Amino acid sequence: MTELRNQIAQTLEFIRTKTDAKPVIGIILGTGLGGFVKEIKKKIVIDYANIPHFPVSTVESHQGKLIFGTLAGKKIVVMQGRFHLYEGYSVKQISYPVRVLKFLGVENILISNAAGALNPLFKKGDVMAISDHINLLGDNPLIGPNDDSLGPRFPDMSDAYSKELIALAEEAALDLKIRLQKGVYVALQGPNLETKAEYRFLRTIGADAVGMSTVPEDIIAVHMGIRVLAFSILTDECFPDALQPTHLEEVLKVATKAEPKMTAIMKEVIKRMKP
Ligand code: HPA
Repeated sequence: MTELRNQIAQTLEFIRTKTDAKPVIGIILGTGLGGFVKEIKKKIVIDYANIPHFPVSTVESHQGKLIFGTLAGKKIVVMQGRFHLYEGYSVKQISYPVRVLKFLGVENILISNAAGALNPLFKKGDVMAISDHINLLGDNPLIGPNDDSLGPRFPDMSDAYSKELIALAEEAALDLKIRLQKGVYVALQGPNLETKAEYRFLRTIGADAVGMSTVPEDIIAVHMGIRVLAFSILTDECFPDALQPTHLEEVLKVATKAEPKMTAIMKEVIKRMKP
């Protein structure tokens, strides 16, 4: 057994002492987006700090909890709190929990993040379904020997964000009368926000939103054959010719205010997913 498979086995062994739940949907909640948790029924909560091989979050706005439960009658597992490159973690560490989710039974993952809007037609407070990504992290969680028992050496990325799940989200948003934007997410390391010149560059290469997460988790999900649906809450407008300073407090305020829209869409998508 490879070292990675050994670690996964140890993590699973610990989780199995707490619950025998077999969730089919995984959810990764981003910056200031923990409100979704209130919707979960029959919760079993495990602190990341107690889980072997799980990284521990260092960002104040993130909690580190793995939550099992049900929502709309479906078995789910939620990661409240995620990890970023700028905290000093490697992309392998960041995406490790996704491998564990797969072994718990997860077939679909919903991801949320806070991002800056690059598309000038988008507004602060909008929710965007990620249709595709550009990886500018300068790293990749699949670098190194490939464990063929987990996934292919050269994963295909033509459906990196499931078209089927995006269609489901668009239908749900329409029925809920919530505006849902759709676009390309570009990930950078951070932690500083970008310069005007960088925003212009990112827009030119085809990005609609910019952030510092989600891409490592998506790559590992694709590697393991998990379908991904990801949402960005657009917390600030990164328009180079009219750029205003952005502060974390404002990002969190906008994320908190817009979160109910995203939570409503996610809940509706979960309800409509095939059992
Ligand atoms: N860049 C710019 N604005 C943002 C980001 C980012 O990475 N995340 C949230 N708002």
